[in-house]
Amino acid sequence: MKKQVIDVNQITKQVAANGKHAPVEILHGISLQANAGEFLSIVGPSGAGKSTLLNAMSGLSKPTSGEVHLLGQDPYRLRASQAAEFRRKQIGFIFQNYNLIPALPAFDNIVLPLRLAHKNVDRQKVAALLKQINFAADPSNFVSNLSGGEQQKVAIARVLVANSRIIFADEPTGALDSISRQIIFGLLRHLTKQGICIVMVTHDIEMAAATDKAITLRDGRLEKVINQPTAEALFQALNEEGR
Ligand SMILES: Nc1ncnc2c1ncn2[C@@H]1O[C@H](COP(=O)(O)OP(=O)(O)OP(=O)(O)O)[C@@H](O)[C@H]1O
Ligand SMILES: [Mg+2]
Repeated sequence: MKKQVIDVNQITKQVAANGKHAPVEILHGISLQANAGEFLSIVGPSGAGKSTLLNAMSGLSKPTSGEVHLLGQDPYRLRASQAAEFRRKQIGFIFQNYNLIPALPAFDNIVLPLRLAHKNVDRQKVAALLKQINFAADPSNFVSNLSGGEQQKVAIARVLVANSRIIFADEPTGALDSISRQIIFGLLRHLTKQGICIVMVTHDIEMAAATDKAITLRDGRLEKVINQPTAEALFQALNEEGR
């Protein structure tokens, strides 16, 4: 039997809305599970709540209600120091806005998690990885001087060197050309073959169709879970009114 590594149970998220007394609910009771080696995609229109869900299920932003377990642990019940260590060792995150440190060179951004975890930095491995993902810039360049696509590759490389057991990726290839997109997808797919679980938000139907399970979100609700999705099934699900 496959090992379950993500268990999300009836989570909601409420946020304080400007000028209103009552908080606004932007995620409504979402449940989902994922196993080691599984590649999940989350699709849905802009504003559907994809990033909010990813943040809540990855331990970054506590849901208002409901439960999250990653590798059997509730990340929101760990003490701050334990939670930080758990994330550093087990969980990778590729952010929609990259979350890089602009005042550091690309290389230092990539190896920062390794340094924080007191792991050895294998410069050759990093160089090989950068070559593999077609990173053409000089890794000693400051991130603030890189193009959007290059910055996205730095964010991807940072996760790829870290040996995480679960990777959350929020539109990881949105800024990339189609060749780079395919290379990155291939690398992520390769990681799932080694037992890593990946949850990826994407607007790219073709890419979602190449994952194992697609979840469609609309207005903060989980609409459909499509196993072995096809582009046609996804296209249809996303074009239905859903209400
Ligand atoms: N902190 C917040 N305060 C108020 N509203 C928020 C907050 N965070 C998210 N929202 C709202 O919740 C909804 C979902 O946002 P979210 O960023 O999760 O969407 P998304 O599906 O990731 O969209 P996109 O595809 O554009 O990235 C949006 O309407 C957004 O404006
Ligand atoms: Mg988003």
